[in-house]
Formats: sequence, structure tokens, C-alpha cells
Amino acid sequence: MSSVKITIDNQTVHGNTRELLLDQLEQAGFHPEYQCRNGLCGACRCHLRTGEVAQLDALALTGKDEILICRSIPKSDVELVFSYQLRCNEDAKDRF
Ligand code: FES
Repeated sequence: MSSVKITIDNQTVHGNTRELLLDQLEQAGFHPEYQCRNGLCGACRCHLRTGEVAQLDALALTGKDEILICRSIPKSDVELVFSYQLRCNEDAKDRF
């Protein structure tokens, strides 16, 4: 499967199974928090409510059902929950 749905705060955008979630969310107009973009700081941590991801090597700790979007590639449709209000461009809405 190369095309997936990425859902955040009841908004769904097109995604793929090749690129990191952080990159895909930014391309879709979202502004998730990040610092290192390399799995070290944990700033990009979020909750994976549904779906499955491939988590690349990372040093930052994650809790149960948490992922680092800078090191995660979706393997299926995913629903993400952030602990803060995720900012997005107006045109990011209703892209699916
Ligand atoms: S941005 Fe630092 S762990 Fe993802």
C-alpha cells in the first residue's frame, strides 16, 4: 500500500508509506512541533490512536502508543493525537 490517510483532529489528508510523518504533515500544511528531526529530543512525540507505523531508530523515549513523527513512516492509515493544538494552514483542511 503506498497511499494512506493521515487523520489529525478530525482532519484527514493524503499520505504515503515512503516518507516520514513529520515531512508529510508539513507538506500537507500542518506545523507540528519539532527540534532535532532525528529522534533525539522527543519534541515531535504524539499518540498513535489507530494504525501502524515503521519506527526508525531513535534515542528519545516514548510511552505506550506514542511515536516520534520525525522517525515514523506510516504502514497503514493512521490517526494521530497531539498534546497541543496542531496549527495548520487554512488550505490544509479538507484535503482528503
Ligand atoms: S524532532 Fe526531535 S525526536 Fe523528533
